[in-house]
Amino acid sequence: MFDKLDFSSVPPLCFIQDEDALMKNLELIEELRKNADIKIILALKAYANWHYFPLIKKYLDGATASSVFEAQLIYEEMKCRAHSYSPAYLEESIDKVLYYSDYLTFNSLSQYEKYKDKINDKVSFGLRINPEFSPVETDLYNPAFPGSRLGITSEHLKKLPVGIEGLHFHVLCESSARDFVQVVKAVEEHFHDLLFDLKWLNVGGGHLLTGENYDLTKLIFQCKKIKAKYDVQVIMEPGSAILWNTGVLVTRVEDIVSANGIQTLILNTSFTSHMPDTLEMPYRPEIHGANKDGTGKFQYRIGGVSCLAGDFLESYGFEEELEVGDRIVFKDMMHYTTVKTNMFNGVCHPEMGAWSEEKGYRTLRKFTYSDYKKRMG
Ligand SMILES: Cc1ncc(COP(=O)(O)O)c(C=O)c1O
Repeated sequence: MFDKLDFSSVPPLCFIQDEDALMKNLELIEELRKNADIKIILALKAYANWHYFPLIKKYLDGATASSVFEAQLIYEEMKCRAHSYSPAYLEESIDKVLYYSDYLTFNSLSQYEKYKDKINDKVSFGLRINPEFSPVETDLYNPAFPGSRLGITSEHLKKLPVGIEGLHFHVLCESSARDFVQVVKAVEEHFHDLLFDLKWLNVGGGHLLTGENYDLTKLIFQCKKIKAKYDVQVIMEPGSAILWNTGVLVTRVEDIVSANGIQTLILNTSFTSHMPDTLEMPYRPEIHGANKDGTGKFQYRIGGVSCLAGDFLESYGFEEELEVGDRIVFKDMMHYTTVKTNMFNGVCHPEMGAWSEEKGYRTLRKFTYSDYKKRMG
């Protein structure tokens, strides 16, 4: 995309889905599904751009929902029923979730008790377990830290309750096949006896299958091993891996200000509104043509257009001096961006666009004042 698209020819503020890159990831994942003999489903929490659901459905086995809205979107736009899991199902919407799902996982035994009368043979029911091990170091993304509310620990689960056919765990984040092997070891240590009685085992997301050095052979070997040992259907629900490196956020420099020797670009985007993970996690996104370690002839802080004092990223290095009107292109902006964006401060949402080498740039959706106003009434 970067050598084929002139970013000054697209709208000054837009997310662009690179369809060629998405296809590459989908093809890799389809191959993996077949070779490992597992089901792979899209985690909607990472990406809910339903324009692409018909395409994604051709390569994957469906999608996973964590709320009734996600389940409904899967039903309507992917034309299949969801694998649902939520830390708690709400009384007002549990019946709808059941309608839109063909798998449903409870987070706790109390949720199971509350809704066990709803167990029926149209839906396969499961429980989320907490293996009490995760290689993830940031607590915000580690569902297995002591006291975590996510999943049941082995001390509370000695046998499968009536009607439960599957177990689910999720403790990885942008992780390797080696990490997965370690997690399976922890699951076996804690829940060994239960594994023989399952129809399915959902091994969660966080598997960076499309990452540069991901060891697919190791993953395939591990999945086949689980299947052979426990005679169980393995289900994997990655989000990030499906969208990894498949799109950008294009922005424009509106002003350059200087204080205490620091030059700051003011962009037409906002980190808190359009890239919240850059402040929450925090992580430093790659910027096309810039060094994120700050090295280079010119240094600029990258500032957002909201009034939040902390709405900026520490300095990046550039080889050329920048000017008002220049484009700043953030890489790898498809997963956990558009699903999290907001209109804080009335900052307009970036246009949603698509690009492929064959078709060039197209607009999928533009946002206006009425989108902002309608959120409040
Ligand atoms: C239960 C569950 N499944 C799947 C995922 C998707 O994870 P990732 O996008 O890292 O693959 C998440 C992410 O938080 C999750 O909480």
